[in-house]
Amino acid sequence: MKSEKNKTSAIIPGSFDPLTLGHLDVIKRVARLSEFDIVYVALLINPDKKYLFDTETRIKIAKNACAEFANVRVISDDGLLGSLCEKLGASVIIKGVRNAQDFDYELKMAEWNKAHFPSVETLFLPCSPEFSDVSSTRVRTLLAEKNYSDAEKLLPRGTLQIIPKKTEEKH
Ligand code: PNS
Repeated sequence: MKSEKNKTSAIIPGSFDPLTLGHLDVIKRVARLSEFDIVYVALLINPDKKYLFDTETRIKIAKNACAEFANVRVISDDGLLGSLCEKLGASVIIKGVRNAQDFDYELKMAEWNKAHFPSVETLFLPCSPEFSDVSSTRVRTLLAEKNYSDAEKLLPRGTLQIIPKKTEEKH
C-alpha cells in the first residue's frame, strides 16, 4: 500500500462561492480517474475578494457535495495555488472549462502558474454539455431573487439546507 506521501494527487482549485453541479461533475469525473489516488478540492481564499458565502459555509457546502467520494479531500488555503501544490505534493491542477471565455481566463492562470511553479502542470477538462450554463454567479443571482427552486436545480443535494438565511438576505 502506498504511504500518503507517495500517493499521486490532483488539485481542483476554485472559489466555490458556492460549489455547483458543474463543479461537482468535474470533481466526480476526476475522482473516477485511476491516475490519481487523491483529489483535493481546494477552496482558495483571496482576502481582497468579496464572497457571498463565508469560508466556513463554502467548505461545508463543498464537503457535503463531496462526501460520497472516498478519495476526495476538501481543503482551504489563503496562499498561492502553486505553493499549495508543492506543500501537498500534487503535480497536477485540473480546471473545468465551459467555453472559450473560460478557456482564455484559465489559460492566463495556467501560464502564470507554469512560469512560477514549473513542476506543476495544469490540465483542462471540458465540462459536460448539460452543465455549460451552470455557474456560481447564476446561483448567487437566483438566491438574491429568492428563486430557491431554480437555484436548487444548479446545486448539489442538501446545499440549500446549509446556506444561512441571513447570508441570502444581505444580497
Ligand atoms: O473559481 P475561480 O474564482 O475561477 O478560482 C480562481 C482560483 C481560486 C483558482 C485562482 O484565483 C487562484 O488560483 N487563486 C490562488 C492565488 C494564486 O495562486 N494566484 C496566482 C495564479 S493566477
